[in-house]
Amino acid sequence: MEKTKVAIVGLGTVGSGVARLLLDYGDRTARHAGRTLWLEQVVVRDLAKPRDCDLPEGILSNDLRKITGDPEISAVAHLVGGLEPARSIMVSLLESGKDVVTANKALLAEHGPELFDLARELGRSIAFEASVAGGIPIIANISQCLSANQIESLTAILNGTSNYILTQMDERGADYAAALAEAQRMGYAEADPTMDVDGTDTAQKLAILAHLAFGARVHWRDIPRQGIDGLDVTDLRFARELGYRIKLLAVAELAAEGLELHVSPTLVKAGTPLAEVRGAYNAVRVVGDAVGKVFFHGLGAGQMPTASAVVADLIDTVVGRTAITFRSLELWSQREARVAARDPANISGRSYLRFNVEDRPGVMSEITGALGRRGISIASVIQREPPAGDGAVVPLVIMTHRTTEGALQTAMQDIDRLNCVRAGSVRIRIRD
Ligand code: NAP
Ligand code: HSE
Repeated sequence: MEKTKVAIVGLGTVGSGVARLLLDYGDRTARHAGRTLWLEQVVVRDLAKPRDCDLPEGILSNDLRKITGDPEISAVAHLVGGLEPARSIMVSLLESGKDVVTANKALLAEHGPELFDLARELGRSIAFEASVAGGIPIIANISQCLSANQIESLTAILNGTSNYILTQMDERGADYAAALAEAQRMGYAEADPTMDVDGTDTAQKLAILAHLAFGARVHWRDIPRQGIDGLDVTDLRFARELGYRIKLLAVAELAAEGLELHVSPTLVKAGTPLAEVRGAYNAVRVVGDAVGKVFFHGLGAGQMPTASAVVADLIDTVVGRTAITFRSLELWSQREARVAARDPANISGRSYLRFNVEDRPGVMSEITGALGRRGISIASVIQREPPAGDGAVVPLVIMTHRTTEGALQTAMQDIDRLNCVRAGSVRIRIRD
């Protein structure tokens, strides 16, 4: 059988999974590719590190030139995280004539225009299925299978680490730090897990999906975002009592005024598919004008689910499919944006609010009055009996009807200035 030489840069969580699939299941990849994908070379940073896979003798090195200098290696899995040296490695690979497959969404979200332009100039391709939602084939679905549609909205859980932590806290009463440490141990988290929990990783993935689905030219830094790192377990409990779960949601929704885009912890109704996404699973709910609603669900982080997407991209690359789709992809092209982001102040929705208030007469009317003055209608209220003793501060939870971001922000500022309100007011979006 014909043999095509491939290589891997980075043999951490994902790289080891890719090596295992290529080495242990070569017959499977050969059946789909019509040729053997021969793992010729693996490059890492530290040769002394123990590895999670057995490599044939002599193929591991710490010298990238072993790949860039070998004209017979045609495709390379680039599985190094972060921005540098990941960017320089990608540039060297493209300049030495390699087609590249990557899982690095941070790199694409930051340097996508430069890297895609370079690949186009050099007649090379970059495949990136594993960069968004791990094992879920969402890039192929949006860019190919759903291409007859005008995508109307994407509502997604895109960070496995955050969803794992939320599930552990909500269902098992786990402590935040312990749940994060477990996510790191399982190989879900980034080398710097801050990006997982502060919404950055999700915003980077949403920026990629918004480029593909809507032709939006949005930088991830311009997407309003909030992570789970500031979430209080009290709100997980109130949400549950109200019949909701809290998920870190990425939303992109098309309206006449432009594209609504944000990443935030959000209350989703218990029992709905998004609320049932647990652990390191991700999900993407797509609404298209022809297809209607489509729901994708699968492991969004972890070794083998991510390796599954990388190896499928390698197969597509060596058989020539990626070259065809890469040329027609609008991602980071010079083409004008088809849609602009909406002014966040005009976006409307429902919200969950929690205030720490003094337990004394008139407090409720002061708060409801402040909301009413901004035209915000209340759907439900919870106030607990205070603990014994004077001067108690109690949580007051309010679910609003639909209102605009702008009105809500002004009302929250008004309320935070009231004497009866203590620090720590909380606002969480609701997605019905
Ligand atoms: P990782 O476990 O930290 O592995 C990174 C690898 O990159 C290590 O093997 C490291 O080598 C290598 N590396 C770093 N600098 C290098 C250099 N200068 N030259 C050669 N190799 C170098 O990371 P990972 O979890 O596999 O993630 C890799 C990428 O996939 C990241 O972009 C991540 O965002 C993305 N991703 C990860 C997951 C997941 O579940 N983990 C899922 C989807 C996407 P040493 O081992 O020698 O230090
Ligand atoms: N750290 C990422 C996550 C890996 O937890 O989702 C997958 O991109």
